[in-house]
Amino acid sequence: MSTSELPSTAGLRPNFIWGVSTSSFQIEGATKEDGRGPSIWDVYCQNGEVKNHDTGDIACDHYHRYREDVALMKRLGVQAYRFSVAWPRVLPQGRGTANEPGLAFYDRLVDELLAAGIEPWLCLYHWDLPQALEDLGGWQNRESAAWFADYTTLVATRFGDRVKRFATFNEPSIFNLFSRSLGKRDRSSEDNLYRATHHVNLAHGAAVDVLRENVQGVSIGCIHNLQPCWPSSGSAADAAAAERLGIYWNDAFPDPQCRGEYPPALRPAIEPHMEPGDMARICRPVDWFGLNHYSPVYVRADATSMLGFDFGEKPAGVPLTPIGWPINPQVFSETLRKVHDNYGLPIYVLENGYGSFDKPDETGAVIDPERIAFLRSYIGAMNAAASSGVDVRGYFIWSLLDNFEWASGYSERFGLTYVDYASLRRIPKSSFHWYADLIKTARLR
Ligand code: FCB
Repeated sequence: MSTSELPSTAGLRPNFIWGVSTSSFQIEGATKEDGRGPSIWDVYCQNGEVKNHDTGDIACDHYHRYREDVALMKRLGVQAYRFSVAWPRVLPQGRGTANEPGLAFYDRLVDELLAAGIEPWLCLYHWDLPQALEDLGGWQNRESAAWFADYTTLVATRFGDRVKRFATFNEPSIFNLFSRSLGKRDRSSEDNLYRATHHVNLAHGAAVDVLRENVQGVSIGCIHNLQPCWPSSGSAADAAAAERLGIYWNDAFPDPQCRGEYPPALRPAIEPHMEPGDMARICRPVDWFGLNHYSPVYVRADATSMLGFDFGEKPAGVPLTPIGWPINPQVFSETLRKVHDNYGLPIYVLENGYGSFDKPDETGAVIDPERIAFLRSYIGAMNAAASSGVDVRGYFIWSLLDNFEWASGYSERFGLTYVDYASLRRIPKSSFHWYADLIKTARLR
């Protein structure tokens, strides 16, 4: 592929970091091996809540194939790899006795990365809460902040000699908003949503302190999913629903964490769950803002559902990915600008990517020019934001591998690498080679 098809990266900093992201439950498999305890996602899968009754039992078998996966990253030329630790793998009951074989897996992974010259970026929580803690109320229990702090102490003291980049949470607004633990997904459960929101924010603040205390030279952030929420029609009700959702989705976590305040519209609902001193516990200094961005979200009013919204129709003519997500690189640029202006922190884009239904062709190759076009336009938009002064310092593609895409199971593919789930064979797609070329070219500048 000729470099003329690469976007300009001239506006990016010289030491800009190119990476890829994954998460534990989505790739590891080995859910019953070496003493791992069950997570809430194992239970959702057992309960048949996932498309095609898919489970995480094998996933990409990364637990056994991590060497091959690190070798893929080396071929890509990424400088950094964002992964998450499965809390129930290292603390099967969520607290109490640590599971040495689980910790040893992450030792092996981290050592393999470092040997390949790839910096490990460790996310503490990418949605696989130990079921034992869910049984105690999960994030609705205020104690969850202390459980999370203890788990963070274990991870920080074990890996902090080799890992310096830590994220507390992945997308707190998303896993709370779509949590299956809140009760009925109607307005009667909104109070549970606000309670859990506050506790996750407290857990974030507690973890920041633990990391700062235990890891020399640590660099900390939280990863937020920011997407503008737009009404799907011109009606006033849809506009109000989009505004209400947007405030929760985009502001309920970064505002308290980075600015020490909940958005005014949420205060009356959250204040009943606050204790004196809580905001100071939440708003601890972080080093960067982790941004996940995919697309704008279209919203319609639904008076009966939680927060009074549902996803709405996308207006005719809006370009979509095969899985139906709007494509709008301009909004990516605007979102980067907004984060820069609102929070004033260095930004790392820790997820962006393209979901589709890739298949190998008759020669066995996986050719995905649409993903390349998407990445080219989004990276171009990021370059434009950087050129206008936005302090963006890294970009990580979701994802290294096709993987378990939550409620969609294995049906949706986001990888730069195709995974044949029957044989577990990895096939780099054409976007893989394109990204490798981009990184090489950008780093030569
Ligand atoms: C994000 C999640 C990630 C993956 C991508 C497609 O919201 O953080 O795990 O599912 O979407």
